[in-house]
Amino acid sequence: MAKTLIGLDIGSSSVKVINLRKTKRGYELLNFGIAPLPPQTIVDSSLMNSGAVVEAIRRLVQSQGIKTKECALSVSGHSVIIKKISLPQMTKAELENSIQWEAEQYIPFDINDVNVDVQILNPTSTEQGQMDVLLVAAKKDLIYDFTAVASEAGLKSTIVDVDAFSVANAFEANYPIPPDQTIALVNVGASVTNIVVIANRVTAFTRDITIGGNQFTEEIQKQLGLSYEEAEDLKLGGDAGLDADSVIPQEVESVIQEVADSLSSEIRRSLEFYQATNQEGDIDKLYLCGGTSKLSTLRSILESRVSIPVELMDPFRNIKINPKIFDVEFIRNVAPMAAVAVGLGLRRFED
Ligand SMILES: Nc1ncnc2c1ncn2[C@@H]1O[C@H](COP(=O)(O)OP(=O)(O)OP(=O)(O)O)[C@@H](O)[C@H]1O
Ligand SMILES: [Mg+2]
Repeated sequence: MAKTLIGLDIGSSSVKVINLRKTKRGYELLNFGIAPLPPQTIVDSSLMNSGAVVEAIRRLVQSQGIKTKECALSVSGHSVIIKKISLPQMTKAELENSIQWEAEQYIPFDINDVNVDVQILNPTSTEQGQMDVLLVAAKKDLIYDFTAVASEAGLKSTIVDVDAFSVANAFEANYPIPPDQTIALVNVGASVTNIVVIANRVTAFTRDITIGGNQFTEEIQKQLGLSYEEAEDLKLGGDAGLDADSVIPQEVESVIQEVADSLSSEIRRSLEFYQATNQEGDIDKLYLCGGTSKLSTLRSILESRVSIPVELMDPFRNIKINPKIFDVEFIRNVAPMAAVAVGLGLRRFED
């Protein structure tokens, strides 16, 4: 267990930092901060403007009075491949020795350009003599870019994780998972939606879809002929300082419905793919998080599209928040955006 370690979520719309403590009675929040990033800082999950990210991290660490230098951060998007594969049964040590060579056939990148990680899901799969393994491959240059901004901001990236796993980690710490339940987690951020399926208490499937809150804003902008800022403001429920007659809220709402509908169809397709390729039972429940989960329209449309009960995930459900230290209202408000950071902050308590 690391002595101290903060969670650092470098999202495309904002950076989040978190510092947690474990007491006899459970987890407690020590620090949480969020700093917005200018548009185009991160595009397609790659860093376009490292300086802006370094600046945001520095500001957060300073304003939160965080002294810890070690952090856990995560990456996502096209440069990260996660696959469930079936391999002949072997020990963890044997697997770690052979995986770099084994992995080659499963990933679309040159094996020398990626870092490979494996996790045994099921030591004895249904197939005789085989076992199920989760293979994770992430492009080295992506990892390099993200750890470099952390280091320029004065932090040391002790752990590099994947957004989808961090969401799963946050969920597991906050919700009891009955062993026979299959649960889907959907984190709808600004540019990416991470989908995770947990079955038999392990991560059985993940997929990133490149649709998120930005698509809602861009469609409002396009269809109503507004600036990006005006469109974003309207999406968040403001009036964008526009003449009350010039934009009808109903117009905004119908664009939101349209995008929610196509995103929900994509999510449904991913879940159907999972179900078609896995023997585990049907998905019992879907938990939604990420800033875009604040759109109540998305939640209701998604629920009807996937025909699974949809609930909002609270990443602070099991984390004590002292009202003398924190503005509880503010924490409630940003909670949907904190899932990845919470999952990263919890890494400190693992061995
Ligand atoms: N009240 C709200 N209503 C609708 N959308 C919201 C609301 N609050 C935040 N959002 C949207 O949530 C998104 C930010 O969410 P989040 O912080 O989870 O994303 P991110 O981690 O920065 O991005 P990503 O992980 O996709 O790179 C933005 O698109 C923002 O417009
Ligand atoms: Mg995010």
